[in-house]
Amino acid sequence: MIAVMASSGDGYLLDNARPEAGTRFDALSELFDPSTFRHIEQLGITSGWRCWEVGAGGSSVVTWLAGKVGPTGQVVATDIDTSWVAGPAEGVVKVLRHDVGRDAPPEGGGFDLVHARLVLVHVTDRERALRTMADSLRPGGVLLLEDADPALQPLTCLDEYGPEQMLANKLRTGFRSLLTTRGVDLAYGRKLPRLLRETGLSDVNADGYFPITSPACNTLEAATVRHVRDALVAAGLATDTDIDAHLANVAAGRLDLSTSPMISAWGRRTAPP
Ligand SMILES: C[S@@+](CC[C@H](N)C(=O)[O-])C[C@H]1O[C@@H](n2cnc3c(N)ncnc32)[C@H](O)[C@@H]1O
Repeated sequence: MIAVMASSGDGYLLDNARPEAGTRFDALSELFDPSTFRHIEQLGITSGWRCWEVGAGGSSVVTWLAGKVGPTGQVVATDIDTSWVAGPAEGVVKVLRHDVGRDAPPEGGGFDLVHARLVLVHVTDRERALRTMADSLRPGGVLLLEDADPALQPLTCLDEYGPEQMLANKLRTGFRSLLTTRGVDLAYGRKLPRLLRETGLSDVNADGYFPITSPACNTLEAATVRHVRDALVAAGLATDTDIDAHLANVAAGRLDLSTSPMISAWGRRTAPP
């Protein structure tokens, strides 16, 4: 799944104001939270850490982080639209409206962990956003970036054995066209390790993951297609008939739908000797 936005903070086609946004955040949580949480555990999260969750979207990662850092820690959750973010623990979670492509680090920086999932790929000034996040780390702090790489694996149905699967892949191709015209870098995920090194971080590592079929993939696909339906039709990338047929196929559970690969890359701000 990929969200569509034109630039830093403006023209976000899959805007959080629409009801589909909540459904998409729940599906993203089900699909990717286990992998995200595994990475953050391995990075050593513990009580008292100060964390910045960038482009939080929904609340699942924020809630989990708050449980890990406890009452002596802090979780700053930012987004250009914070409608779906809620903090569980009074005093631990601070929710702020913030544009990572334009604004300075919140709360004075100095974070032990900064995490952004499926955010940077959509921000026009990705370079500045990445620098802002790296600069906001305390010496020894870690940055974990997780972003899609739709060009690495462009199919939604890996097993394209019939017309329903071909239709699904046609709509995914149309969706990628929309993304391209809105400035999304479809091959961004694979660049993360290099970009983290170029930003001056050390101990850089990365891996990739994507689900091949699951009920949450169906939920995500239906919500995303409903959200971009008008844009697909207006751009001549699909017809209403195509979209209705595809949504019926998804609902019937006859498709094994996968997502784009999620590349997770992490690095550490070098502590002074
Ligand atoms: C695809 S959603 C991902 C949400 C969440 N990180 C997740 O993985 O479930 C992208 C989120 O990034 C937010 N976003 C987009 N542009 C942003 C920007 N320039 N600064 C901060 N957040 C941004 C959107 O509002 C949206 O909530």
